[in-house]
Amino acid sequence: MVKKIAVLPGDGIGPEVTEAAVHILKAVAKNTNQQFEFHYGNIGGVAIDEEGDPFPSSTEELCKSSDAVLLGAVGGPKWDQNEPALRPEKGLLAMRKNLGLFANLRPVKAYGPLLDSSPLKREVVEDVDVLIMRELTGGIYFGKHEREQVNGEWQALDTLTYSESEITRIAKKAFEAAKLRDQRVVSVDKANVLESSRLWREVVDRMKTDYPDITVEHMLVDNAAMQLIHGPSQFDVILTENMFGDILSDEASMLTGSLGLLPSASLGDQGVGLFEPIHGSAPDISGQNIANPLAAIASAAMLLKYGFEMEDEAKAIDDAILKALEAGYRTKDIATEQGAVSTTTEMTEAVIKALR
Ligand code: NAD
Ligand code: IPM
Ligand code: MN
Repeated sequence: MVKKIAVLPGDGIGPEVTEAAVHILKAVAKNTNQQFEFHYGNIGGVAIDEEGDPFPSSTEELCKSSDAVLLGAVGGPKWDQNEPALRPEKGLLAMRKNLGLFANLRPVKAYGPLLDSSPLKREVVEDVDVLIMRELTGGIYFGKHEREQVNGEWQALDTLTYSESEITRIAKKAFEAAKLRDQRVVSVDKANVLESSRLWREVVDRMKTDYPDITVEHMLVDNAAMQLIHGPSQFDVILTENMFGDILSDEASMLTGSLGLLPSASLGDQGVGLFEPIHGSAPDISGQNIANPLAAIASAAMLLKYGFEMEDEAKAIDDAILKALEAGYRTKDIATEQGAVSTTTEMTEAVIKALR
């Protein structure tokens, strides 16, 4: 059966890295008997410019009628002064919410050939294999965001809410993921200050009885940020709320050497899944063919694995990424002082070559 993939390149380096991922998927189709159809749509700044809406209904319909969504990145200085409803990021948040994508899986695994690309010591990063399970449709991102005049000055507020059911469903995803991994969950919160975190802890503790084989630990987010640098291999699954997960995952990318390496899958309990690199539109390097396409390519692998249950094809992509790195291909972000630097397209070609 032909699988329909909605492709939303977005802004900045989004189109460059998405094109790389599409090339890889086309190469997978060529090598196997899988068939993919690609249907393009607008999101983010480009959607504001062309359709007056960061998440146009045409894009929403395209996503809902597809079998998976592949996204690049949104945002950029051009739209930074826009009113909140007309910001590119609003389009991404609306998509996550409207498609019910509450679980964001952000795997962080050290690539052997890149152990010296991390700013951390090789011994610290070599055994890293973490899955960050980030809650994606709740918390402060989806609270009230308001400004009002109080005593002659502006006051701004952002509210952070979590319900028991929202916590339960993401915790369940973390426990289920841990079952297939090393059976350990560290739930990260700020329960020494935040009421939403105290509820989060209670709900996670209550669920432990359903998962007797899983070890559960709670960790405060400030300590977790430190532990990720100090001893990252202590983590298996990190379960956390929306904003903490956003911040910790960018931090964790440095364990692998670059933000340009980390993929993600955003899933609900049913319906279409969204697959995108964790990085943004990187306005500082866009249009130069120097962005690292591997995060987007690894997101295509997650699309095959989680979106289409094509485990073998997904593994073929992951293996090809490793082979390209073993062969010495390096985009600028992961290059060493002595080594040659590959462009986005050269790295993509190297992965395609390794796929064959
Ligand atoms: P960013 O992730 O775009 O870039 C941070 C740094 O990492 C930059 O120096 C950039 O050059 C580098 N980088 C990122 N991806 C790279 C890649 N594939 N290869 C090589 N280097 C890479 O974060 P930012 O600069 O804080 O944000 C820029 C814009 O992107 C903002 O508008 C922000 O809102 C948006 N953003 C979007 C997403 C998304 O679409 N999911 C995620 C994060 C940020
Ligand atoms: C990410 C991004 C988004 C987030 C922004 C662009 C809204 O940083 O996907 O990590 O904060 O979730
Ligand atoms: Mn982020």
